[in-house]
Amino acid sequence: MCGISAIASHKLVSHKLLMTLQNLEYRGYDSCGMALFNDNKITLRKNIGTVDEVNSLERFEGMEGTLGIAHTRWATHGGVTKENSHPHFSNNEEFVIVHNGIISNYQQIQSNLKDKGYRFYSETDTEVFSNLLEEEYSKTKDVETAFCDAIEKLEGSFAIAMITIHQPDTIFAVKKDSPLVIGINDGVNYVSSDINAFISETRDTIILDDYDYVLIKNDDYEIKNLKTRQKVSKQIVQVQWDRQTAQMGGFSHYMLKEIFDQPMTVRNALNIPAAQIESIAEKFITRKQSFCVGVGTTYYVAMVGTYLFSEYADLYVPSISADEYPSLIPCSHDDHVLFFSQSGETYDTRMAIRAAKSKGAATSAVVNVVGSSISQEVDDCIFQGSGPEICVVSTKAAVSQIIILWQIALEVGVLRNKLSRKAADSFKDKFNEFSETIERVLNEESGNIRNLAKETSHIANWLFMGKGIYYPIALESALKMKEVTYLHAEGLPAGFLKHGTLAMVDENMYSLFFLPFKDDSDLYKSTLMSIEEVKARNGKVIGFCSEEDHEISKLLDHALYIPRGNPELTPLIQLIIAQLFSYYSALNLGLNIDKPRNLAKSVTVG
Ligand code: G6P
Repeated sequence: MCGISAIASHKLVSHKLLMTLQNLEYRGYDSCGMALFNDNKITLRKNIGTVDEVNSLERFEGMEGTLGIAHTRWATHGGVTKENSHPHFSNNEEFVIVHNGIISNYQQIQSNLKDKGYRFYSETDTEVFSNLLEEEYSKTKDVETAFCDAIEKLEGSFAIAMITIHQPDTIFAVKKDSPLVIGINDGVNYVSSDINAFISETRDTIILDDYDYVLIKNDDYEIKNLKTRQKVSKQIVQVQWDRQTAQMGGFSHYMLKEIFDQPMTVRNALNIPAAQIESIAEKFITRKQSFCVGVGTTYYVAMVGTYLFSEYADLYVPSISADEYPSLIPCSHDDHVLFFSQSGETYDTRMAIRAAKSKGAATSAVVNVVGSSISQEVDDCIFQGSGPEICVVSTKAAVSQIIILWQIALEVGVLRNKLSRKAADSFKDKFNEFSETIERVLNEESGNIRNLAKETSHIANWLFMGKGIYYPIALESALKMKEVTYLHAEGLPAGFLKHGTLAMVDENMYSLFFLPFKDDSDLYKSTLMSIEEVKARNGKVIGFCSEEDHEISKLLDHALYIPRGNPELTPLIQLIIAQLFSYYSALNLGLNIDKPRNLAKSVTVG
């Protein structure tokens, strides 16, 4: 996730662009830059650091021009370097662009352009687009046609803003699966990743849809559809947010915003280039034994992995909590360890990497922060591209990691001949549908979850239970509940209940059951038995089920209905609903949700 901004004005624009960058800094803060059209050419300045640091080096305010683009970066492809920062010029410096998202087919486009003689100066996926534009323009000599033709060649997610010397009064911008809004004012028009950029200047906003592209001048704008290339009309909405609300995308907390970011972060996780997934998957084949390791939420992500490798690749991959890893060091030089870390800085995970390396094991990682210590310490790293996660507790980063893990497990299944390529590929459609389902569930279920949280906010003791893959989901959900509400929430395998914890169950104990649809009959039936055990002791039971499942909904004190969709992905839907439940429970208790007591986002000490 990065922040993009563009302004067309009748006055000099650099100080306003700088202000929008400062307002967007929460979206990415490793580097930033600005490009302005002036005097028949484009001037570009960029560097690494915070907006204020880069401004004191590059003196953005000294740049002249009435039309410009700017960007604040959160690295996804390539390290944090000046070359990788945006904006990116085309080779002839006639086009310059800023981009948010991931262009998943950039390697292929880049190699075609290299064959034609184009040179690349950064490691980013973005730079391919500026050169692609130059190439398309050379064919038609029409900027709009070149822009649309180039966009049509891109796969993945993107919001892009571009200026060119060939049409120096116009900003071109487009969006697909990454946010983009327009701000309308008298003689000054804005394009930005979010309203926060320009809210102090104007509240008149147009929210763009996927495949909308816009041509913006200081006194005019046109919105068109990329597929039809015809004009579309969009309503101007008056946003009433204050700046802080705008920074959180209109949500009251970062946790809620990040829960709602998930359809987008899931799409980003699905756009990770196949070669990166394959590279890690191969280690599961070539190495004798593999392990998954993380800590806190990422340990539960690793545990989900154990179930996924078993299901799709018929392979036992133990998961180990990083803090315990040095006491065990179960690997040897023939083995491979896959680590998970949102921050890439967690001390316990770094010590586990050191321990694995001391035995000569191959190491790989899935990490959210580019340039972080863990990403540099392992042999192979996938950057998940979830954007900054500001709330201390992890939501969107964890779900994205599970999606990446899922893709790795499917690939391992294919490589081990346990799964056909066709079956693995069919998951792509399911995953794509999944991000839409999340969107629907979040929008439709929020009210119910909020009400349930209100009804149960007096409950001090919870058991969160599930079987199979629902077990790590229950553990992670219980951790979320503990982190933000400080209530006692114990996650355990549903089948384990009768072996001790059942002694605690009475009418004051609430249980939340994570369970599959009825069709998954063995897992369903055995979870049902645990529900019966709780009910027989007068315990209160909340459970997930489909609307058609009358048998179970009769048994439950409160049913959380979920859409049938793809049953394989149901555990993730339940995890997302549980995130919402924790959020609303903490909201009722009036707690400091984004910064829970005693916790830190990045625990860099042992
Ligand atoms: C801390 C945070 C947890 C997080 C864990 C692992 O304990 O409070 O929310 O899950 O670190 O963090 P990582 O950045 O390595 O995923």
